[in-house]
Amino acid sequence: MAHGTADSRFSARDERFWDRMARRYARLAVRDAAGYAQTLARTRHWLGAGDRVLEIGCGTGTTALALAPHVGRYLATDISGAMIAIARDKAAAAGSAVVPAFEKATLDDAPGAPGAYDAVLAFNALHLCGDVPAALARVARLVRPGGLFISKTPCLGDVSPVFRLLVPALRLARLAPRVTFVTAAGLERELAAAGFAVVERGRHGSRGRDLRPFLVARRAVS
Ligand SMILES: C[S@@+](CC[C@H](N)C(=O)[O-])C[C@H]1O[C@@H](n2cnc3c(N)ncnc32)[C@H](O)[C@@H]1O
Repeated sequence: MAHGTADSRFSARDERFWDRMARRYARLAVRDAAGYAQTLARTRHWLGAGDRVLEIGCGTGTTALALAPHVGRYLATDISGAMIAIARDKAAAAGSAVVPAFEKATLDDAPGAPGAYDAVLAFNALHLCGDVPAALARVARLVRPGGLFISKTPCLGDVSPVFRLLVPALRLARLAPRVTFVTAAGLERELAAAGFAVVERGRHGSRGRDLRPFLVARRAVS
């Protein structure tokens, strides 16, 4: 690591953080089942039976297992090998004929030639992928023209500035991962700058204030 770039050092730290979290994450119940069900249904609405789909930051694979039977090919990726191992165990236990492929990868090294995917999905993950404009530029390379980027992203730039001040301390104590403080409005501006037009804008949460807009964005055709 001594000779790694700043970004590879960040990635290695993130990987260790999420590896440590994996077992606990797998045990967590979905906090807002109605909101989650709605997000899944809206996502399915936009996916076709033959689609090639890439998911970034798939965690322990719950969403990938639910969506894979409805598309052509589903590759679910995560920076954490421990998350991917749990996801693979869950897929084996599900015994379903159609399971996603799970691979350890970040957005930067996700496999795929330019335009390889009809849709890229990132749920609770875009704010963890470093610089948002750079992450969206990478998504734009992976999605074919006319293809979709579907996301639900905590917009931490919209929370109290006090929280923002707390994060470096939490990171020092290894209690928080690297996060980016994007706002909901800023995220839409960055999507437009990366060549995407928002075609659906919704709320993920079914109750209270929710900082995670559900966005479906289409990559421009030319
Ligand atoms: C909050 S969890 C969300 C998991 C799942 N998508 C969900 O909604 O339950 C964030 C996931 O993103 C992964 N992650 C963090 N940074 C990443 C990166 N740079 N590239 C890919 N995955 C990353 C973590 O390992 C973790 O599994």
